[in-house]
Amino acid sequence: MIGVFDSGLGGLTILKHFLKELPQYNYIYLGDSARAPYGNRSQDVIYGYAKEAVDFLFSKGCVIIIFACNTASSQALRKIQQEYLPKKYPDKKVLGVIIPLVEKSAKNDKIKKIGIIGTKATIASNVYCKELLKINAKLKIFQKSAPLLVPLIEEGWIKKKETKMIFKKYLRELKMEQIDALILACTHYPILIKNIKRIMPKRCIIYNPGEIVAKSFKKYLEKHPKLKTHQSNSPICKFYTTDSINNFKTLGEKFLGQKINEIKKIKL
Ligand code: DGL
Repeated sequence: MIGVFDSGLGGLTILKHFLKELPQYNYIYLGDSARAPYGNRSQDVIYGYAKEAVDFLFSKGCVIIIFACNTASSQALRKIQQEYLPKKYPDKKVLGVIIPLVEKSAKNDKIKKIGIIGTKATIASNVYCKELLKINAKLKIFQKSAPLLVPLIEEGWIKKKETKMIFKKYLRELKMEQIDALILACTHYPILIKNIKRIMPKRCIIYNPGEIVAKSFKKYLEKHPKLKTHQSNSPICKFYTTDSINNFKTLGEKFLGQKINEIKKIKL
């Protein structure tokens, strides 16, 4: 069983690609919608929530967990890996979304100037920037936090012109820097990837985070054959939310691009 954790619904844009790339596994998705968005919260609070999510997913039998959430990946993942797992779950692994995106972007030698757009917490952590520079110290990096976008998208305002206008405004500065690539460092933005591509010049590379993360995880599984034994002939995908099941279903199906049947509400 593979656990996928997000602060809410956004992580379904990542799970979507796991289901495409690795359909032979069982998945549990946990969206902590009752406490979302995480993007404006402090590191201590996010770490506390992340620990609860990890406990829950391991208690359900997950062998590995992916933090689909950029905010949790940037604010809590390292501490979970270095402090929490060794003490409580020494044989288990938790991975995030940042390293796959960083590696893909920093190793592309066409990319010299790179833009990053994400929540306040993700941008404030500077994690993308640090990791990119570790691979390519010559990169020029421009970051922009976009705190209004998550609430608008969670509200279902995906096709509204107001959301597109706000996105355009956030992207203006990055566009002016003539970046070669833009990292969508938030689970919610891929929902608008077509619009973003229209706003940015054609030459600007915009990877779909779900695709990159799923492909990178596939390679990870090849290197860790023990995990491969967890494949299933009739794979299942279960969904847990900490908030309303109806909301999760309605908006979640748009994020995932398919029907969601089994959803349970839980308290963390
Ligand atoms: N899932 C979060 C992320 O990718 C966005 C929503 C939130 O702020 O909780 O950063």
